[in-house]
Amino acid sequence: MKKTPINELLDIKYPIIMAPMFLVTNTKMMIEALNSDIAACVPALNYRTDEQLRTAIQEIRANTTSKGLGINLIVNKSNIKMKQQLKTCAELGVDFIITSLGSPKDVIEQCKPKGIKVFCDVVEEKYAKKVEELGADALIAVNCNAGGHAGKLTPEEIIPLLNKHCSIPVISAGGVGTKDGINKIMNLGAAGLSIGSPFIACEEAHISEEYKQACVDYGKEDIVFTTKISGTPCTVINTPYVQKTGTTQNWLEKLMSKNKKIKKWVKMITYFKGMKSVEKAAFSSTYKTIWCAGPSIEHTKEILSTKEIIKRLTT
Ligand SMILES: Cc1cc2nc3c(=O)[nH]c(=O)nc-3n(C[C@H](O)[C@H](O)[C@H](O)COP(=O)(O)O)c2cc1C
Repeated sequence: MKKTPINELLDIKYPIIMAPMFLVTNTKMMIEALNSDIAACVPALNYRTDEQLRTAIQEIRANTTSKGLGINLIVNKSNIKMKQQLKTCAELGVDFIITSLGSPKDVIEQCKPKGIKVFCDVVEEKYAKKVEELGADALIAVNCNAGGHAGKLTPEEIIPLLNKHCSIPVISAGGVGTKDGINKIMNLGAAGLSIGSPFIACEEAHISEEYKQACVDYGKEDIVFTTKISGTPCTVINTPYVQKTGTTQNWLEKLMSKNKKIKKWVKMITYFKGMKSVEKAAFSSTYKTIWCAGPSIEHTKEILSTKEIIKRLTT
């Protein structure tokens, strides 16, 4: 695999990041990935308290010499813990932060002086230019094949577009689950890849066996977008439960979310209800199977260790 500025920025052998995944990525997966010559990033929100986040960062540090330890911060208003999470990351000196769903201004201001790199999720050129101006170190170009909140553009569109208009490295996120896929994306001009869904079915994840097995049994044709979880389209596996309950909000929810006086509260309730159901489905056996995953589960044929998945992707 060719060397890019990302190898140097994070001092890693392969310019690949195990992408942050809400509820899925954990401390053990981080350690295994970092000791397999790639970088890795965990959502701060996967730790309920500041104490747990601190302990996790310290545990990861104690078990690896890698300089590819990343934390993902949701930087919009929904994340009421953001200030404290950022303070902890800056204090303990993580290697990089991935910001999503908002302005990275505060993160960049606090992290730059400490040498912590900041990478920002972007889905379009306008926002990419903005975060570059603010001082971001790299762009995470989230394309239309990504798991979670996908972008609108194909990798063939977004990677050259961002390379043309920005001068910081472009890391591609979305749709890749093989070594050939990685090479194809690198040939489009990406300086690296952020890969999520292929790691859901890993031995170290603390999610239910049913969720992992679903990533083995279902493929890219089975991924659909739903607005039922957070109001914003998110990719899920089209299980019989999802087929039965639908992927759009019902007429009452839609009506209420348009009402000026109550829409803020309706959004919040939708979000919290959605998060609770996703959490329940991720960790326990339930017939309410709402499992978040992207089309790249197409290449997941068995449950493997994190190390084996990385080996499959890189050699
Ligand atoms: C189950 C799941 C949870 C995710 N959670 C987050 C998250 O908490 N924060 C974030 O920035 N991106 C999140 N993402 C998006 C990933 O970081 C990454 O952009 C995406 O997985 C790339 O597409 P891929 O799944 O095809 O590799 C999530 C994706 C999945 C599949």
